[in-house]
Amino acid sequence: METPAGLAVHPDHAVVWHDHNLYLLDQRVLPAESRFVVCHTAADTARAITDMVVRGAPAIGVTAAYGVVLAARERYRTDPHDWRAGLEQDIELLAASRPTAVNLFWALRRMRAFLADLDQLDPVPALLAEARRIHMEDAAANRTMGDLGAALINTETDVITHCNAGALATGGYGTALGVIRSAHAAGKIRRVYADETRPWLQGSRLTAWELQQSGIPVTVQADNAAASLMAQGKVGWVIVGSDRIAANGDVCNKIGTYALAVLARHHGVRFMVAAPTSTIDMQVEKGAQIPIEERDTDEVLACGGARVGPEGVQARNPVFDVTPAALVDYIVTERGVIERPDAAKLQQLMHGR
Ligand code: MRU
Repeated sequence: METPAGLAVHPDHAVVWHDHNLYLLDQRVLPAESRFVVCHTAADTARAITDMVVRGAPAIGVTAAYGVVLAARERYRTDPHDWRAGLEQDIELLAASRPTAVNLFWALRRMRAFLADLDQLDPVPALLAEARRIHMEDAAANRTMGDLGAALINTETDVITHCNAGALATGGYGTALGVIRSAHAAGKIRRVYADETRPWLQGSRLTAWELQQSGIPVTVQADNAAASLMAQGKVGWVIVGSDRIAANGDVCNKIGTYALAVLARHHGVRFMVAAPTSTIDMQVEKGAQIPIEERDTDEVLACGGARVGPEGVQARNPVFDVTPAALVDYIVTERGVIERPDAAKLQQLMHGR
């Protein structure tokens, strides 16, 4: 762990290629501490993803792409004539780092395809250029989604968001928080209610920090406070990101998102999902087929490092849930907006037929 001189601590720079290595702003300790974890190898990178140093679907994809560059450098240095088989093992290691966010597999597939067409001796410069393109394209997609999502909001409103779908979770700017940033700049958002998002507190730590940095009024609330807020008529929209969207429009996102969608429908609150097309998995027919990560139950039985549950009690820690397409009002992507998603609309968006 090092803090490199000259690297600014800012949510838009959570994943940085710097001085021939990968620097990750450590999201486990923000905002109390600002430090970077440096990855020199594919193994470092895979560990950083598994351990949540970096998290959020698009950010994981970008990170894995840079991980392939680190892997190629090491394999090529070790054997400049026969590096491809070893590199394939490293890509498998990166793919095993977390199971749900499809952006990880999307980015690795893109790096693999790029690699297949490479014929020059040293693959590293070209792979680095491709990883940088993945990174920049994601940031640009977020800007586009910001405009498209903001255009859907007609009157000045308060909104709820869940987890962190901001710059920290992406290549920059954010998906759900990108929409919120653009809508706030257009005078359409008064206040954001950020669900704290147990057990990792991505909402109270990361979303609250990001919104503060952007000068957007934010109120943190316990996850279970959303229902009463909606019942008081205080919010017009729920705006969230996604880790994987199935071909029928079912949306997988941070655990608790499904509950928010049910509440939103009951209270007449609109439900918007902002996600790049790299989050859409046309190979998965419906949400029930998406692998849901289960993490260590100690994450639930402790809070802020202190044990709260009794020793020996059972716990469960599913990290994501699936919101059925029928509860989603809009999916906003960089290619356009889908209202009331279904299989035909997803097919049209992704394949133009
Ligand atoms: O477990 P995490 O923190 O990686 O989960 C992240 C989320 O659920 C985000 O909402 C999702 O990845 C969208 S990020 C733009």
